[in-house]
Amino acid sequence: MRAAISLLVLLLSMCGVQTESHGTDASTQDVSTELKELRDLVVELRGSLRHTRDDVKVLEADNVAMKQRLAVSESKVSVLEAENVAVKERLVASESKVEALERVLQDTKAEMKTEVDNLKKENAAQETELTAVKNMEKEIRAAPKLAFSAGLRESGDGYTEAGSNNLNLVFKKVFTNVGEAYSSTTGFFTAPVRGVYYFRFTVVDLLNSRYMFIRMYKNGQQLMQLGEHDTDGMASYLSSGLTLQLEKGDVVNMVLPAGYRLYDDGNNQSTFSGFLLVPL
Ligand SMILES: *[C@@H]1O[C@H](CO)[C@@H](O)[C@H](O)[C@H]1NC(C)=O
Repeated sequence: MRAAISLLVLLLSMCGVQTESHGTDASTQDVSTELKELRDLVVELRGSLRHTRDDVKVLEADNVAMKQRLAVSESKVSVLEAENVAVKERLVASESKVEALERVLQDTKAEMKTEVDNLKKENAAQETELTAVKNMEKEIRAAPKLAFSAGLRESGDGYTEAGSNNLNLVFKKVFTNVGEAYSSTTGFFTAPVRGVYYFRFTVVDLLNSRYMFIRMYKNGQQLMQLGEHDTDGMASYLSSGLTLQLEKGDVVNMVLPAGYRLYDDGNNQSTFSGFLLVPL
């Protein structure tokens, strides 16, 4: 641009020289016109040059402002870069912490899984045990309950005598008869289930140089016989018991052999008892 302007000024000055020495011929006239045009052009160019200079000034001012803003921005950028570095460092630290925590979490999870597995096993074992206990309880509840005790006489006229035949004793005074397997009309205990039972008795007589005997029978067969002899006329006792395995329907009873007697005046001197220990 400046070079172009210098060239124009040079031309102008050259034209000025020619203007002073122009002639009156047609070519001089042309030159003069041309010069006038050139001058106008120069004026115009000067104007535009002024504008351009103004523009340049504005642009230079803008440039300064831009540079200042750039410098500010650059310093901000370096601050931000520094911050970025710090943030990255913190991020790295955080990441490694997170990794460590993740490892701890994994370990904890594994430990908890083991613990849960153990607890499940324990629980299963306990449930098995509980089921066994419940079944046992059910069995116990389902098992027949059989127990009886009876005294020989309700009230007291004393002696019960066998006479000339063996007497099946009927213990009439029922204390207990759970399960109703003992009959106070026949004196027989009839096993309603297969099982192990216990029977016992105590019988009394007042022996004044007399003998006494008592027997236990199962299904009409004698199982035991006890005897006693005394001279003092005071109460003598025979007492014993047996644990018996019975089939369903087996019967047990007490027998007073022929010729002997027992005493009971309603005060429970002679008793017969039995109960189911365990069903089989
Ligand atoms: C015999 O048993 C009855 C209950 O049936 C009781 O009231 C009585 O006191 C008992 N007799 C003796 C001497 O214990």
